[in-house]
Amino acid sequence: MRSIVQNKVEECLEILRWDRTKWADFWESLRKKFGPIVPNYEKVLRLSDEEVKKILWNTERRELDRFKWEWLDVSRNKKVECAESLSERAEFLELKREDFSVFLMALLGKTDWMVVDGEKEKIVLIDVFSLWRKGLLKELSLATLQAAIGFRKGENVGNYGGKKAYFNSLLKKVEEILSEGKETLKDLCEFLRNHVSYYDWVGFYFVEDGKLKLGPFVGEPTEHVEIPFGIGVCGQAAERKETFVVQDVTRETNYLSCSPKTKAEIVVPVFKNGEIVGELDIDSYSPSPFSEEDRRFLERICELVSKVV
Ligand code: SME
Repeated sequence: MRSIVQNKVEECLEILRWDRTKWADFWESLRKKFGPIVPNYEKVLRLSDEEVKKILWNTERRELDRFKWEWLDVSRNKKVECAESLSERAEFLELKREDFSVFLMALLGKTDWMVVDGEKEKIVLIDVFSLWRKGLLKELSLATLQAAIGFRKGENVGNYGGKKAYFNSLLKKVEEILSEGKETLKDLCEFLRNHVSYYDWVGFYFVEDGKLKLGPFVGEPTEHVEIPFGIGVCGQAAERKETFVVQDVTRETNYLSCSPKTKAEIVVPVFKNGEIVGELDIDSYSPSPFSEEDRRFLERICELVSKVV
């Protein structure tokens, strides 16, 4: 299969080898090298030659240097994660159509992503310099997925506002899904898996006869269809009646492996009248992906789920 994500950032960072007075010439060489992508990028932003020169002139070498070091550090894994997370969602993103590719580039830092015409297919252009300026480089794979979803919805340009804003926008859709009742839990799992780049196995367990029994889920089939309280991450969350986050499953001794690909897991209880009735379990193929935002987002979802079960 073709690679959906192409990394061109290092080629853009070649600018640092050029004397600052020649940056406009470097940009010209970038236009030629990445024609028609870079010229189309300028068109979408409606930038004249003069404006491009001005932006370059106002960009400090120091800033680009800092960006470069952080990119080299953060990107090693993120580049791979970002490609894998899109491939994992191939059906949802209709990758078989081969009508778009994602290009990671460091451009003028004006907008996080846009769609431009490439030679054959559409290019979803991610300006990682723009993400970095907002301190959101670490969330590259989520920003990339959001851009790819935006492209499929017919959007042409967008900005990634960070997890909090993104999760808030997803919550509206979650409420809509759940308004149809209990039968939609599988749809909810699918929605979460498709819209969050590092939610790779999403499922519910419900308490039955004092044990956790597997409910609706999406992702690889699991042998853990019944889990006693206290056993594994799920069983521990049930026993403690609180959210359990494991950022690195290799360091958790009381853990039931579902897939060798899993690197991290979060389990959030569903309460009814103060009693635990079930759990939302999410496995991630990315290392240490969960933050406080994930916890808050998923706990809110479990409150909503508690109303329909
Ligand atoms: N890993 C879980 C078991 C469930 S699977 O991840 C789906 C645990 O340790 O409880």
